[in-house]
Amino acid sequence: MRQAAGARLESRAMENPLNHASHASAAAIEPAGSRFVRACLRQRVDRTPVWLLRQAGRYMPEYMAVRRHHSLLEICRTPEIAAEVTITAAERLGVDAAIIFADLLLPLTPMGLDFEFLAGEGPVVHAPIRTAEQVRALRTDRVEELGYVARAIEKVVAHFAAPRVDGDQLGIIGFCGAPFTLASYMIEGGSSRNYIETKKLMYNDSAAWSMLTEKLVAMLAGFAQQQVEGGADVIQIFDSWVGALSVADYRQYCLPAATELVRRIQAIGVPVIYFGVDTASLLPAMSETGADVIGLDWRIPLAAGLKAMGHGCGVQGNLDPITLFAPDDVMEARVREVLDAAAGRQGHIFNLGHGIVPGTPVENVIKVVQWVKEYGAQ
Ligand code: CP3
Repeated sequence: MRQAAGARLESRAMENPLNHASHASAAAIEPAGSRFVRACLRQRVDRTPVWLLRQAGRYMPEYMAVRRHHSLLEICRTPEIAAEVTITAAERLGVDAAIIFADLLLPLTPMGLDFEFLAGEGPVVHAPIRTAEQVRALRTDRVEELGYVARAIEKVVAHFAAPRVDGDQLGIIGFCGAPFTLASYMIEGGSSRNYIETKKLMYNDSAAWSMLTEKLVAMLAGFAQQQVEGGADVIQIFDSWVGALSVADYRQYCLPAATELVRRIQAIGVPVIYFGVDTASLLPAMSETGADVIGLDWRIPLAAGLKAMGHGCGVQGNLDPITLFAPDDVMEARVREVLDAAAGRQGHIFNLGHGIVPGTPVENVIKVVQWVKEYGAQ
C-alpha cells in the first residue's frame, strides 16, 4: 500500500505546475486523473467537481451510528474507523473528493497541549497559552505521533484506488489548520467570540506570537507531509476564524506564517486550498499566500470574491450551508447562481461556504450534489 501511495505522490507531483522540472514529463504521461485535482490546478475538466465541507458529520445517520460507540477523538485516532467514516460519506453523497476524517486540533497533543471535546461546548484546552514561557515549552519534534491520520488516508486511498464508473479518480483531501486559527484555540482555550486573549498576545508580545506561529508552521508542514506520503492529493488549510482580523492585522501578524505554510506544502508536490470564513475584506491578502485555490464563505457573492482575488488562483465554494434547509426550488436556484457566477471558469470547485450543520436533511445534500453534476458541465 505504501508503494502505491508513493507512486500516486509521484504522479501528483508531476501534475503540479509548480514542479517545473517534471512538468514536461507530465504532459507526456497525462494521467487519467481526478477532475477535482485538475480543477485545483486550474486545468480543463469535464464538469465542475463537487465536495462539501463537513460531509462526514452529525447530520449523517451513518456517522451518528459510529459515534454512538466511539468518541470523536477515538474515531480520529483509529485509522480503520476514520477511513470508514470518510469513505461512507463520500460514497453516500457521490461527491468527487473525500476529506479525511480528522480534526483541526489533533496537532495540539504532540505539541504538549491537552484538550478534549465536551458535549455542547466544543473543544476545551485545559491549560491555554498566555505567556512566552508556555510558547517556548511547546514541542515540534513529535509529529510522528500523528501518523494515525496518514494510516487512515492510506486506507481511503486503497479503497478508491480504481477509477469510478465515469473514469474519474476520486480526489483525496488531507487537511490542517492555519497558524492563526490553531493559535486562537491554543490561546483562548476553546471557541471564542472576540479573540481578546489571542490579540493581546499578538499585540503585546510579538516575539512570542512569532515563535508560536513559526512552531505551528513547522508542525503543520510535517503533518501535511505525512498526509501526502499517505496518499493525499491535495491539502486544505483551514483558517476558519481569520475573519476576526482587520486587513492590517492579518497582513502584519498572519500572512507571513500562512504564506510559509502554503509554500512548504506546495514544495511537497501537491496543490493547496486555503479556506476561511468571513474573509471578504481579506481576500486580496489571502491570495498573496500563493495558494492554488481560495475557499470562499457564502457571505460574498462568488463573482465578487473572484474579482477581489484577481485571476491567479482557483476558487472553491460557496453555497450557504443553511440553504440545505430550503425547499427544492430555492436550493436549485442558489446552486445555479453559484455555478453561473463561476461561469465555467477553469479552477472552480463547488462547495458550501462553511460546514454542513447537524439536522441538515441528507436527501437535500444529495440533491445539491446531483444538481451540480447536472448543471456544472463545462
Ligand atoms: O467531513 C468532514 O469535514 C469531517 C472532518 C472534520 C472534522 N473537523 C470532524 C469533526 C474536519 C475537516 C474538521 C475541521 C475542524 N475542526 C475545523 C475547521 C472546519 C470549520 O468548521 O471551519 C474546526 C474549527 C475544528 C474544531 C472543532 N471540531 C470544533 C470547533 C468542533 C465542535 C463544533 C461542533 O460542531 O460541535 C469540533 C468537533 C467536530 N470535528 C465534529 C466533527 C464531525 C462534530 C462533533 C462530534 O462528532 O462530536
